[in-house]
Amino acid sequence: MIDYKINGKVAVVTGAGRGIGRQIALTLAEQGVKVVVADIVKESADKVAKEIVLLGSEALPFELDVSNSQQVQEMADAALKKFGGVDILVNNAGISPKRNGQKVPIIEMDIREWEKVVDINLHGTFYCSQAFAKIMVKQNYGKIINMSSQAGRSYSAIPAAHYLTTKAGVIGLTRALAGELAPFGINVNAIAPGRIETEMIKDVGAEVNKEYMKKIPVGRLGQPRDIAEAILYLASDNASFITGVTLDVNGGALIL
Ligand SMILES: NC(=O)c1ccc[n+]([C@@H]2O[C@H](COP(=O)([O-])OP(=O)(O)OC[C@H]3O[C@@H](n4cnc5c(N)ncnc54)[C@H](O)[C@@H]3O)[C@@H](O)[C@H]2O)c1
Repeated sequence: MIDYKINGKVAVVTGAGRGIGRQIALTLAEQGVKVVVADIVKESADKVAKEIVLLGSEALPFELDVSNSQQVQEMADAALKKFGGVDILVNNAGISPKRNGQKVPIIEMDIREWEKVVDINLHGTFYCSQAFAKIMVKQNYGKIINMSSQAGRSYSAIPAAHYLTTKAGVIGLTRALAGELAPFGINVNAIAPGRIETEMIKDVGAEVNKEYMKKIPVGRLGQPRDIAEAILYLASDNASFITGVTLDVNGGALIL
């Protein structure tokens, strides 16, 4: 196992109850990182926190909706109280609503659905970044990693306009945060995953995902671990000269 020298650091991972977020939380814990396991589903957060303890690290499960700025502040306060600081924030929580497994057409999109996706994917990322940047500025140290998407990089036939828009917005927010926070020893980067095998992509059906695989040069779908490995690097001081970038982790999907 590579030693990223992050043993003893404290991380907050949102949407850590399952999928990519869960794997990020566990992979950080394997490196000795203490993790705040934040998710809107309490039972999932509790379960992942227990897995982390079994790995020999410490965890704080926290139930919240990232689109609620008050709950985000309560999480920041709780993290500070429990661990005394926060070194790493992974803004992973996100949603991609479909209709019967299909993209929702723009002209049929309910404004409330648009707002919900913007609230969680974009506002949630902003609220968490702001709350934890305040802590990191005082420490003069921090790593913030935002979850964008291949859909934020190029047009996609699968997710809808709200998802593409918010994931492109996350890239802009990453640059803004990186520029403002660099003087305070804080690195801010984004990851743009391609198609990763989690519950999120199952709603479109196996056939669609199989077809999609043909557009991935490495010939397979991504696994949550592919993303977690990239997070380890960006969360470590090996990447201290990298800020404001969006790292594509997609098996080469964008070169075609
Ligand atoms: N799976 C993919 O192919 C893929 C590709 C590109 C980007 N992403 C992004 O990666 C991230 C994780 O995706 P995933 O595939 O693991 O999704 P997932 O649906 O499997 O898991 C998302 C987790 O976030 C939690 N969550 C949802 N809304 C929340 C909220 N308001 N507050 C707190 N927690 C909330 C869910 O309960 C769940 O545990 C998302 O931001 C997603 O957009 C995924």
